[in-house]
Amino acid sequence: MPTPRMAFLLLRGRLGGGYIMAEIKCIGIITSGNDAPGMNSAIRAVTRAAIYNGLKVKAIYHGYKGLIDGEIVEFQTQSVSNIIQYGGTILKSSPSKEFKNPEGRKKAYENLVKEGIDALIVMGGDGTIQGARIFAQEYDFPCIAIPATIDNNLCGTDTTIGYDTALNTIMQTVDKIRDTATSHSRLFFVEVMGDGAGFLALNSGIAAGAEEAIVPTIEVEDDQLKHFIQKGFRKTKGSAIVLVAANEQTGGAMHYADLVKSEYPDLEVRVSIIGHAQRGGHPTAHDRIIASRMGAASIQAILKGLRNVMIGIDNDDIVYVPFSRAIKENRAIDRNLLDILHNISI
Ligand code: F6P
Repeated sequence: MPTPRMAFLLLRGRLGGGYIMAEIKCIGIITSGNDAPGMNSAIRAVTRAAIYNGLKVKAIYHGYKGLIDGEIVEFQTQSVSNIIQYGGTILKSSPSKEFKNPEGRKKAYENLVKEGIDALIVMGGDGTIQGARIFAQEYDFPCIAIPATIDNNLCGTDTTIGYDTALNTIMQTVDKIRDTATSHSRLFFVEVMGDGAGFLALNSGIAAGAEEAIVPTIEVEDDQLKHFIQKGFRKTKGSAIVLVAANEQTGGAMHYADLVKSEYPDLEVRVSIIGHAQRGGHPTAHDRIIASRMGAASIQAILKGLRNVMIGIDNDDIVYVPFSRAIKENRAIDRNLLDILHNISI
């Protein structure tokens, strides 16, 4: 048996304004917001790494809503057996309007105290981290975040859990669409998720050899569809695939298809919206590995006395990113990637 290690944390002392050492004996683990493949791998890693290091683990079901409602269960090592390979989250997730209000967060805090939970590991995207940030500030409560979203839109980490799996799902789907597009000489607009960030559209476009990827952050300043049509895609190719990042501001695949159809009625245009299939499925090896590393790193962060940081991966190294930086703004997309896509799809 490994020697249990004690986790200590500097807590702002309520008596005399000094600092006191508070021992962390029990962590809570929660998945919130939209699910992402690899969350289960991370839940397993957090649970096992915590127990290995002598900490108690309490699992909170149904996200922040479950924290308010007290849906809390103690986990053992076997509670996370046989889950590394599954998409979704065994802890479930639900939106919580209540957690956005101070009264809801007060109930959440009271439940944490009642359950003897000294620190929280939260897993999710920008909304989840935003919630943890407010809660941590309000109650001086240690929170560590693990970035899990297919959108890959958090700053300070090269990648988020779930992104690689979604990327592969899209690539495989577009490969299939390509078969029929080629056979019928058609132009396909394929809409993918990404919360406006465009990482999924652009990188799956490169991976699947698409002719164009319409990315909101670029499209707002540059009429990508116009350029694509002007390039005369039909001169060199009988078919084409355009990846479109779903976005309310710029319009989805349907919008672009309608524009083209009204101007070129003879063109065979089709739309394919991949939808929530992108969020499901077995996580790739890459997602399982980063989820396992980030999960273990979240416990190391607790042991080191860190708080209010998101675990990130930068150049294959684990890094700790302050919440304020992780969600500061929408992560910028590398425009060079679009140039590469254009240059090699002529
Ligand atoms: O954040 C992940 C994500 O899949 C986004 O890419 C997408 O815009 C959104 O969730 C869809 O959410 P819902 O499941 O509520 O339709």
